[in-house]
Amino acid sequence: MKRDHIHFIFRGSRVSLAGFPAHGTLLDWLRLDARATGTKEGCAEGDCGACTVVLSRLRDGRLDHRPVNACILLLGQVDGAEILTIEDLADENEQHPVQQAMVRHHGAQCGFCTPGIVMSLFALHQGASEAVTRPQVETALAGNLCRCTGYRPIVDAALEACVGPPQDRFAAKAAARINALAALDDGADLFVGTQTHFFAAPASEDALAALYTEHPDALLLSGATDIGLWITKALQTPPKIIWLGRLRSAFTAIEMGEKTLSLGAGLTLADAMAPLAELHPDLKEIMRRFGSAQVRASGTIGGNLANGSPIGDLAPCLIALGAEIELRRGSELRRLPLEAFFIAYKKQDRRPGEYLRRIIIPRPAPDREFRAFKISKRFDEDISAVLGAFQLGLVGRHVIFARIAFGGMAGTPSRAPMTEMASIGIDLDDPSTWAKALAELGNDFSPIDDARASAAYRSLIARNLFLKTLMEISGIPIDITRLSSLEAPHAAK
Ligand SMILES: Cc1cc2nc3c(=O)[nH]c(=O)nc-3n(C[C@H](O)[C@H](O)[C@H](O)COP(=O)(O)OP(=O)(O)OC[C@H]3O[C@@H](n4cnc5c(N)ncnc54)[C@H](O)[C@@H]3O)c2cc1C
Ligand code: FES
Ligand code: FES
Repeated sequence: MKRDHIHFIFRGSRVSLAGFPAHGTLLDWLRLDARATGTKEGCAEGDCGACTVVLSRLRDGRLDHRPVNACILLLGQVDGAEILTIEDLADENEQHPVQQAMVRHHGAQCGFCTPGIVMSLFALHQGASEAVTRPQVETALAGNLCRCTGYRPIVDAALEACVGPPQDRFAAKAAARINALAALDDGADLFVGTQTHFFAAPASEDALAALYTEHPDALLLSGATDIGLWITKALQTPPKIIWLGRLRSAFTAIEMGEKTLSLGAGLTLADAMAPLAELHPDLKEIMRRFGSAQVRASGTIGGNLANGSPIGDLAPCLIALGAEIELRRGSELRRLPLEAFFIAYKKQDRRPGEYLRRIIIPRPAPDREFRAFKISKRFDEDISAVLGAFQLGLVGRHVIFARIAFGGMAGTPSRAPMTEMASIGIDLDDPSTWAKALAELGNDFSPIDDARASAAYRSLIARNLFLKTLMEISGIPIDITRLSSLEAPHAAK
């Protein structure tokens, strides 16, 4: 079954669209076509949150509300969803509880950032099952910049408004909204456009394999948190786009095995957070600091690896854990170690017509220690300057196995082979045995200077991250190795 238009719910009604440019953004459609100008354009690169809208979709038969950056989301990606914008919140008689709380607490001054902030808080409000905590509010607002009000009144408004399951008019209409969304879920392969210019979204992996084999020059689109910027900043106009967001089964599955964790490449970063956190607490922290709620709601783990970025957060962590990836072309499956995927700067081992399907991550054995640390200029919503990930195997107090990977130190996420070799034999009780391995980092990497960090800073920080790992594992008494120890008392709640 094929469909030649996208369909979604907007202002309570079903909208069908066939004639739109494949690379058109949701924000442009909202502001220029639907004249929904309450949603603002600030940075147009996913950073400021002024363009935040909420997409609601069905998950296990229930409504799920996610905040997204409309500036970098392509219009086709709203297929099957309900779009909620700032204009939807108040009804004729009264404002939504989130808006009322923002007014009461003086949460807006210039007001330009306000629609986006209100929409982020609305998503938090819709997802709350009990009163939200201050750290939860801070996490929800990490992708919204407000330059004039300051966050205190906004956080206070959120704490007042988000106190339990929503009891608003959206909740009152839940059954009708669920029915409307269910009616959109037709399982048809979407193909809008012509053979030379199209936005397609296959509904199954078989349909994808066939379409991608036919159009190996098409651009694969997952969450668009990278690709969106190619369009808004580099002004690219990719003519053929295949969106992977409608694939299910293995492509979005989480399989928690005894020895491995398998994650479908199409899982959003938000959905991958819990299984990764279960694998190791350091991954929980890295995911918490990955972009913002908006970026995590759209971006996928497959996109984060397939983009080949030398400063992507997941690759070094997963390489240090010994992850493998599964690729598919036509009906052919291929598996390779993740580090082998990254051949050179932005050059990956991906054949024409092939796509990333699954990531298989071995669970660290009980005699293995794992650590991963992200260093960036800002705590939230910032790309890494350096990310170091370390897996060490121990017999007694001696290191007998080392798998160490870094982001930000070379043109690809890379292992540190000389350092790994020199780590064998480290005696945790004798820091003089650590020096050789620490020094080898200088032979493994010659990092570059760029806007994020100087080469000297990167080299120093890489060494210090390894030192921190050894200090933590050895149990040497030290004051503080973790930022969480420095957080204000309220943040510990
Ligand atoms: C504001 C902001 C903050 C960010 N913060 C971080 C951060 O903290 N850490 C970080 O690592 N990154 C960050 N990013 C970068 C980006 O969000 C991530 O890399 C994200 O995981 C990309 O996934 P996506 O699904 O959006 O990819 P897309 O933009 O859809 O695609 C990216 C690339 O991967 C290819 N691709 C996608 N899926 C597949 C697949 N299954 N098979 C083959 N190829 C595929 C696409 O063709 C494209 O080349 C940030 C981006 C923004 C805008
Ligand atoms: S306009 Fe800044 S995040 Fe979209
Ligand atoms: S009120 Fe947000 S930037 Fe001014």
